[in-house]
Amino acid sequence: MSLEDRQKEIYNSKNCQELTEYYKQWAKNYDQELVNDCSYIAPQKVVAILSQFVSKDAKILDAGAGTGLVGEILYQNGYSNLEGMDISAEMLEQARQKNVYTALYQKVMGEPLGLTTDSFDAIVSVGVFTYGHAPSSSFDELIRITKPGGYIIFTLRLDFYENSDFKLKLTGLEESGKWKLVEISDKFSPLSTAKPDGYYRVWVYQVTGLSH
Ligand SMILES: C[S@@+](CC[C@H](N)C(=O)[O-])C[C@H]1O[C@@H](n2cnc3c(N)ncnc32)[C@H](O)[C@@H]1O
Repeated sequence: MSLEDRQKEIYNSKNCQELTEYYKQWAKNYDQELVNDCSYIAPQKVVAILSQFVSKDAKILDAGAGTGLVGEILYQNGYSNLEGMDISAEMLEQARQKNVYTALYQKVMGEPLGLTTDSFDAIVSVGVFTYGHAPSSSFDELIRITKPGGYIIFTLRLDFYENSDFKLKLTGLEESGKWKLVEISDKFSPLSTAKPDGYYRVWVYQVTGLSH
């Protein structure tokens, strides 16, 4: 199946069950299709931005870790206190084989995560906030488990940002003092050789700790 067809199916997922079924089928070929065939560069772009704010000894959660591509790039850049979570057991199995995470959790973003409050110095999430994936309500739990002063750094597809409730959610959290916006990156295509699958920006927020 072409990457374009795969993404069309995945973005149209109607619920978590459908989404996990798609990623179950994709897990083993994901790295080959995205990195080798289409030069997926989003992890490198995000890690370059993250490293401006987050120190090397930080405890980082890779939310929607998938096969662990972000963890791998973080590790190559000197970050080793890494944990990951994802809805898909098969994607997590691929991530486990990269040997860069100290813990991996199968969790559903948008539901209670069951992780300890104020646990992480930073949370990074790449390619997860898009059509048919994790909802904007995910940020409530991500903020809760981030230490005061810690960072939440994620990609958002530009068109999705404009056509979803994310804009309202992000500004609402800022207005209620739960986090403050630090940076929004320039737009870039996450795939450098394939037909652009929409454009991303990287958003950097700092958690205030006022809410917990
Ligand atoms: C496009 S992949 C990105 C994976 C990885 N971050 C990367 O950049 O290669 C999206 C990942 O988000 C996960 N995902 C989607 N919705 C989720 C949710 N509600 N909770 C947890 N993981 C979710 C999928 O299982 C998949 O592994």
